[in-house]
Amino acid sequence: MIEGNFIVLEGIDGSGTTTQAAALKRRFLDQGLPAHVTAEPSRGPVGSIIRQILTGRLVFHHHQRVTAPSWRIMALLFAADRQDHLEAEISPNLRDGVNVICDRYVFSSIAYQSVSSEDPDAVDWIRTLNRYVRTPDLILYLRLPPEEAIRRCRERDQGLELFDEPEFQKKLAVAYDTIHNLQRDTNVVTIDAAAPIDAVTDACWSHVVSLRSDGGVA
Ligand code: TMP
Repeated sequence: MIEGNFIVLEGIDGSGTTTQAAALKRRFLDQGLPAHVTAEPSRGPVGSIIRQILTGRLVFHHHQRVTAPSWRIMALLFAADRQDHLEAEISPNLRDGVNVICDRYVFSSIAYQSVSSEDPDAVDWIRTLNRYVRTPDLILYLRLPPEEAIRRCRERDQGLELFDEPEFQKKLAVAYDTIHNLQRDTNVVTIDAAAPIDAVTDACWSHVVSLRSDGGVA
């Protein structure tokens, strides 16, 4: 059985990763190819703890103070969730020949948790935590100016989560660009996410097609 392709979408909040994951799945299905959409944090046990933290339903008590968990705890939780997600959902689907489209993966940990920290070694430490997870066949980085992303998030107005402050989103945009520049040799492509939704899907799909036709990223 030929394994499916493992495709990851990355970008700051509001960049459209969730919309594009669904659109890419439709393109696969239209071609008669099996596809499965998933996301991180996952729907697994660790992922559901993370979701409760992100929405403020689960808080930590440190020295009689109620607080959100530190960036280190978050990085460890995300790494644990990723491993569970791979073992329980991603790898079994790929082995069955199903293409897996994952909304966020290791880049999100590097970007979000390093921006949350003041530690210059954060990026190295987070990379180490995620060193043995499966490498995606293709990472589509949906690049969007933070001002536009913030505007879209306000329009959506789904209630504020842990990482939603505008200043954080601006730092995050810089972090994503930096990670991307450092990873030029890998299977990452940048997509202009400010374009209309269908044009963004076309751009993403063209990279998926070249991945499938020549076993690499154009
Ligand atoms: P989303 O469902 O809106 O993408 O929410 C997930 C949030 O979790 C988003 O703000 C990004 C954040 N996140 C991290 O901080 N680290 C990670 O490793 C992942 C996968 C997500």
